[in-house]
Amino acid sequence: MKRFSLLLIFSAWLCCPAGYGQQMAWHIVTTVAENPASAVTVNYHCSSSDSYVLYTLESDPDFAMAKKAWPVCQRWSTAEIPNTARNSTFYTQERYVCHATLSGLAADTRYCYKIVTDGSGSDVRSFRTAGVPGNWKFVAFTDFQHRENPVTLPLVRQMKELASDAVLMLCSGDQIDVAGNEYEWTFLLDNDVFRDFVYACSPGDHAYWASDKVDGHYPQYDYAYTFNHLFKFPDNGAPDSRNTSYWFRCNNVLFVSLDMHNSDISTGTRFSDQLRWFEETLDRLAGTYQYLVVFEHKSIFGSEIVDSAVARNLRPQWFPIFRKYRVDLVLSGHDHIYSRTFALDGDRPTTDPEKGTFYLDMGSSGDKRRPLDRSLTESPRHARVLDLKELDMSCACTVDVEANRLLVTVYDQHGHTVDSFAVPRKQR
Ligand SMILES: [Fe+2]
Repeated sequence: MKRFSLLLIFSAWLCCPAGYGQQMAWHIVTTVAENPASAVTVNYHCSSSDSYVLYTLESDPDFAMAKKAWPVCQRWSTAEIPNTARNSTFYTQERYVCHATLSGLAADTRYCYKIVTDGSGSDVRSFRTAGVPGNWKFVAFTDFQHRENPVTLPLVRQMKELASDAVLMLCSGDQIDVAGNEYEWTFLLDNDVFRDFVYACSPGDHAYWASDKVDGHYPQYDYAYTFNHLFKFPDNGAPDSRNTSYWFRCNNVLFVSLDMHNSDISTGTRFSDQLRWFEETLDRLAGTYQYLVVFEHKSIFGSEIVDSAVARNLRPQWFPIFRKYRVDLVLSGHDHIYSRTFALDGDRPTTDPEKGTFYLDMGSSGDKRRPLDRSLTESPRHARVLDLKELDMSCACTVDVEANRLLVTVYDQHGHTVDSFAVPRKQR
């Protein structure tokens, strides 16, 4: 009898994705909608076809005035996707991938919600809508590359405390190491830290890493399948990069996510289509924002040695476009080295406040770090570079959006300020 009970428990454990226990909904994340002052999207994976989101004002903790939002759900696994990790629960366990848009929300207001599955509710999550009058702030990370590293979650917790009034958390790619491994996403998303904020992210090249090494190589996805089934972003992106490229307007800032694709590809029609989409989007939205922030994974003015294809291929594609639209700030990662440029007009430093674009690669919000190389230490474009490996340092930043500037303050994992700079407001 005892052996039979143990068998039952073991069978139940096998049926549930590793680490979820009896949870009916997991990977619960709140993502930005096109206008996060009035709408957000709730994303989750679910073992049941019967689920919805119950949401209300945070001032209504008993959910007495709660409303329902019905999700769009899709049965999904990676079983049919080439190259993917076959030992992953993404592969072995089909589930419902759901997203529900909560719309008609009041600006600058805290809400809470839970996922109701087969009649029982998840724990309660919260978020704050945008639409903040006056100054406001957001937080940015890069490269959590979360394979059980000890840095990421304490760093996220620290930034939530340092910027408790932030309306947005953003990451410029490489949230995980191998995107086909569900357990890596679980470590990042399913805990008491990575929650209660509105999130936006661009895909890193690791969002295309389909499985662990096979014959000395990491098999790649042709699309960011798992990223796209964890995060639903505004459906306004480039034709062949939907959901990985997109834009949203948060208060007076226009944010644009770009998809810099996988480890092997840095040219081709997906890039030319995305360039065209970027120009068309910016032309259409001219006059509707005060600041322009791009987040994309591969830093076009980062190290020329870590990934030489970035300087060779991506840089000449993108810097003339960023120059044309006078982007204020480009948030990137990829190098695992900290590098921050002076204001650049195209590819050259400028002191003209109407022209400058600042490029910030914070290197790592996890524990993967690389030493400095001479392409950065000898660079005339860079105002500050940090050897994260030597310093045993990881970074995240707050961006204060003020009437006449963006004030960027970069912190290490101990809460010390390691860099700060101001991006002056341009006439637009
Ligand atoms: Fe990375």
